[in-house]
Amino acid sequence: MRVGVPTETAAGERRVALVPDVVRRLGAKDIDVVIQAGAGAGALIPDEQFTDAGAAVAPSAEEVWRADAVVKVAPPSEHEVTGLGADSVLIGFLAPLTGARTISALAAARATAFAMEAIPRISRAQSMDALSSQSNVAGYRATLLGAQHLGRFYPMLMTAAGTIPPAKVLILGAGVAGLQALATARRLGAQTTGYDVRPEVAEQVQSLGATFLDLGVEAAGEGGYARELTEEERAQQQQALTDAIKGFDVVITTALVPGRPAPKLVTAEAVRGMRPGSVIVDLAGEAGGNCELSEAGEVVVRHDVKIDAPLNLPATMPEHASQLYARNVQALLELFAGEDGALELDFDDEIVAGACVVREGEIVNAGAKAAVESAAAPS
Ligand code: NAI
Repeated sequence: MRVGVPTETAAGERRVALVPDVVRRLGAKDIDVVIQAGAGAGALIPDEQFTDAGAAVAPSAEEVWRADAVVKVAPPSEHEVTGLGADSVLIGFLAPLTGARTISALAAARATAFAMEAIPRISRAQSMDALSSQSNVAGYRATLLGAQHLGRFYPMLMTAAGTIPPAKVLILGAGVAGLQALATARRLGAQTTGYDVRPEVAEQVQSLGATFLDLGVEAAGEGGYARELTEEERAQQQQALTDAIKGFDVVITTALVPGRPAPKLVTAEAVRGMRPGSVIVDLAGEAGGNCELSEAGEVVVRHDVKIDAPLNLPATMPEHASQLYARNVQALLELFAGEDGALELDFDDEIVAGACVVREGEIVNAGAKAAVESAAAPS
């Protein structure tokens, strides 16, 4: 099989779907790679490193999009989809539950496409779990952003000029990003607290040296994810959090429910209650934000509290984010390859079937189908 790696075109996207080390590993399995010239530039990987690893470099996108498998990071534009070869398959983040336009465009092009988000979260697929690898980057980065915005130390300092207590950092949502944010804040010396609606997370939070904030609201949903709260639960949670948040210097929010708007955990009242100079880093900006006063992609100051809602944090650490993502893609490509490296899709395999969102133009993922139907319905 020949794998094509186009240059990412989404604004601010600096990652690349494969890195030279992975090109080399694929080559050893008879999987060839053609990369668009300059595709690694955002991650500071020059074309020569790809050619040294055995990749061909194509001057334009056209040839790359005709490869047997096209691998991308961000969802393709509608224009890009039209360049996909008739027998090519596409692999990448496709936002199946929220990206109705992309999915419709893929269906219209009679494409076969696999979404990294739709890979089942089973142990056999752990090496392919790009949601986790990129959430790790985002969680790490969020803690650093919080530290940078804060005009206070994270660690406790005992100096001749006096003692400074450690910063108190609260992480709301203790999934992959939240746990990494907690671990990073702790390494920097902060006093850490974690909160989530999935009760099984308490132990993981505590194992990272943090306190678990128990508000008495439990909402474990399907597939290891949280479910959306009822109105009553939401009101109870918001009130309890508003009281708790006052005491923290930094609040990092990472709470998400797949395919739904992000839960509003930090109310305007909670922000008003925080000490001047405190910081909120809201990682849920793409899904509408966890804080009522967040503005996606902006840093704003409200009630003397700095609120940062960055978009696509993994792209701000493109080298390591690409390296981890490329390993996830490699594992998936190896599953797609037969003995001699040829593309052989076994739709009886739970991972292949689960990851497939559009098959020869038919939308085969229930969530994606619902999203496309609801986008088409008259409002
Ligand atoms: P996510 O990005 O969908 O959500 C982040 C966190 O927000 C979750 O922990 C969720 O419980 C929490 N949340 C949602 N609504 C909330 C609310 N109203 N208040 C507070 N917190 C709220 O989750 P992520 O990081 O993708 O991980 C979810 C789970 O998936 C993991 O903890 C694990 O159980 C499972 N998983 C399994 C893997 C595997 O088996 N290969 C790998 C990674 C994750």
